[in-house]
Amino acid sequence: MARVGILTGGGDCPGLNPVIRAVFRKGFQDGHEIIGIRNGWKGLIEKDTFKLDFSAVSGILHKGGTILGTSRTNPYKKEGDLQKVKDNLKALKLDALIAVGGEDTLGVASKLSKEGIANIVGVPKTIDNDLSCTDYTFGFDTAINTAMECIDRLHSTAESHHRIMVVEVMGRHAGWIALEAGMAGGADIILIPEYPIDMEEVCSLLKKRHNRGKTFSIVVVAEGAKFKEGTMVTQEEKLDAFGHIRLGGIGEKLAKEIEERTGYETRVSVLGYIQRGGSPTAFDRILGTRFGVKAIELVSAKKFGKMVALSGNKIVEVPLEEAVKELKTVDQEFYQIAKVFFG
Ligand code: F6P
Repeated sequence: MARVGILTGGGDCPGLNPVIRAVFRKGFQDGHEIIGIRNGWKGLIEKDTFKLDFSAVSGILHKGGTILGTSRTNPYKKEGDLQKVKDNLKALKLDALIAVGGEDTLGVASKLSKEGIANIVGVPKTIDNDLSCTDYTFGFDTAINTAMECIDRLHSTAESHHRIMVVEVMGRHAGWIALEAGMAGGADIILIPEYPIDMEEVCSLLKKRHNRGKTFSIVVVAEGAKFKEGTMVTQEEKLDAFGHIRLGGIGEKLAKEIEERTGYETRVSVLGYIQRGGSPTAFDRILGTRFGVKAIELVSAKKFGKMVALSGNKIVEVPLEEAVKELKTVDQEFYQIAKVFFG
C-alpha cells in the first residue's frame, strides 16, 4: 500500500476529472490511499490537500475542469518554495506523486524526479496537443469539436453577410487546434505558428475563391501565428511563472490586413476559453480514464520518472524527461493536406 498524491496543474481542460476518478478507483482497488492536492504545485507549497474518497470522485466523469483546482505555480520560481515542497512531501508522507499537466507542470515533475525529490508519474493533458511522446493528450478532442461547432455556426453568418470571418483559436507554439478544427470545419485558410503568415498568399487565395463565385470565406488562425517578419501578438507584457506571455490579438490584426488589402468586409471571432470549457467528449473521457489507470499501475510497479502516453491505440509508458524535451508541432505533411482545401 502506498500514499499517492495527485495534482492537476496549468490550464485546465476537459478530461482531468476522468483521470482523477480513475486514479482513485484503481488506486483504491489496489490498496492505495489517494491524496488530492489542490491547485497544482501551489497546493504542495501550501500543504493544501484532502483525502479522496468515493463521494469526492462520484459524478465527475462528465464534468469539465478539475475538482482539484489548478494554477500556473512554479515551485522553482520563488526562493523557498522548493524547500516547502520537499518538507510537505515528507510531512504528508507521500510515497508517490501523480502530476497531471502540460509542458510546464510536467517540466517541474521531470525536474523533481531527476533531482530525487519525489517519485513521480506524469499524465499528459492539454487542449493544445503539443506534448511529445504521446499521439494525443486528452482535452484536445473536446477543444477541436467545440471549435469545429463554432466554425460551423460562423459559416452561416459569414455566408449571409458575404464576409470574411477570421476565427482565432488557442495554440501557442503548435497549431494543432487550428489545423484539426479548421480542417473539420471546412476552413478556407488555416494559419498556424509553425509557418509564418504570407499576406500576399492569403489575399490571393481569398480572391481566387471570390472569383470562383464564393462571396464569403472562413480563415482560422492560431493565437501564436505570426506574420512573416513579425513576432507573436500579445495582450500584455507580463510573463507568468513559467515565462509565458499572454497571447491574443492576431485575429484582429489579420482581419484588418485582409480588409485593407482585398476590400472584402471582414469580421473576427476569438473563441478563447470556450475551447477549454465544457463536458469532455467520449474520446477524452476514455483517454483520461485509461491514463489514470495506467498511472496507478506504474505507481504500484514503482516505475517512476515516467509519463503515461498513447501510442497507436495502446497506453504505454515513456521517460518523463523525453516527453518534456521539446514540443510536438505540426509537420509539413499534415499541413499540406489541409492546404489542398485552401482558397
Ligand atoms: O496551455 C493551453 C492554453 O490554452 C494555451 O493555448 C493558451 O495560450 C493558454 O492556455 C492560456 O491560458 P491562461 O490564460 O489560462 O494562462
